[in-house]
Amino acid sequence: MLRISLLQAILSTLAVALLIFFITFSIHYNSPSSTPTSKNMLLQETSHPQPHLSLLIGILTQPDRYDIRHFLRLVYGTQSSPIARIDVKFVLCKLTKQEQRVLVALEIIRFNDIIILNCSENMNSGKTYTYFSSLPRILSAPYDYVMKADDDVFLRLKPLALSLQILPRKDLYYGFVIPCPSMNPFVHYMSGMGFVLSWDLVEWISTSQIPANSTFGPEDKLVGEWLNRGNKAKNRISDKPAMYDYPGTNGRCSHDLIPDTVAVHRVKRWDQWLRVLSFFNVTKDIKPSKLYNV
Ligand SMILES: *[C@@H]1O[C@H](CO)[C@@H](O)[C@H](O)[C@H]1NC(C)=O
Ligand SMILES: *[C@@H]1O[C@H](CO)[C@@H](O)[C@H](O)[C@H]1NC(C)=O
Ligand SMILES: *[C@@H]1O[C@H](CO)[C@@H](O)[C@H](O)[C@H]1NC(C)=O
Repeated sequence: MLRISLLQAILSTLAVALLIFFITFSIHYNSPSSTPTSKNMLLQETSHPQPHLSLLIGILTQPDRYDIRHFLRLVYGTQSSPIARIDVKFVLCKLTKQEQRVLVALEIIRFNDIIILNCSENMNSGKTYTYFSSLPRILSAPYDYVMKADDDVFLRLKPLALSLQILPRKDLYYGFVIPCPSMNPFVHYMSGMGFVLSWDLVEWISTSQIPANSTFGPEDKLVGEWLNRGNKAKNRISDKPAMYDYPGTNGRCSHDLIPDTVAVHRVKRWDQWLRVLSFFNVTKDIKPSKLYNV
């Protein structure tokens, strides 16, 4: 009897020692000695066969558009993708009114999803250039991809992440190629509705003289011209028909809503937003509760 409990004691001591050893070892394994890039960090933290990717979506909008930010926070706050870390931020130029300084400050405190750039809010006066070129300086860590999106586009984060997952992480320019009927991503440029650049191209924009020298004009067209002149973006993907303009709003850039959608652009009116949100079953999984009789 005594011998058995002695054996048990030895065994459990051994088990505890082994456990401590494994815990120590795994903590050690998870804390690399040098500072890793964000991607390495993600790779280490996951056992998925496919690496996670990180994406910053910057929605270019104006300070006074409080309502649309409120609405888009709901639209994107209720979506996620298991294969990607996606941050959605609203990108503004410098605030101009006292009222904005208070109200936008409240948003920053509450949501921490605002970027204010050193620029002024005029169409086609270099905001997109300021956005991309500022990022390497103002972000504390890089993303694999950076997107510029309009505030009248509906993005579906899961399909977007799935599309990007299989694409190169370098020298990538992804979006909806203009002109509308074109299927050749190497001619002309990706529509400003929403296009993605890999981080190396963001860095290139922030350091090269080519973009710095041409910041005035249609912003989406300029990005295509910079990349062409710099002989950049060997990897180009035009994700048609998954990206498009809202049905009937823009000729051959528009088509009907389809299940395999990444982005619907030119969603401006409430009836259009409602049709889009219904079509994609955005509110279908609402859990029943006694708190709301719906
Ligand atoms: C903001 O931009 C202006 C005009 O380009 C420049 O003179 C100024 O130094 C910039 N300010 C900061 C903080 O970078
Ligand atoms: C910048 O633009 C000026 C005027 O168009 C041109 O002369 C110059 O060569 C350009 N520089 C670069 C690096 O593209
Ligand atoms: C929305 O739900 C309906 C009914 O379950 C389904 O038939 C349809 O395919 C769904 N639409 C999308 C885009 O997933």
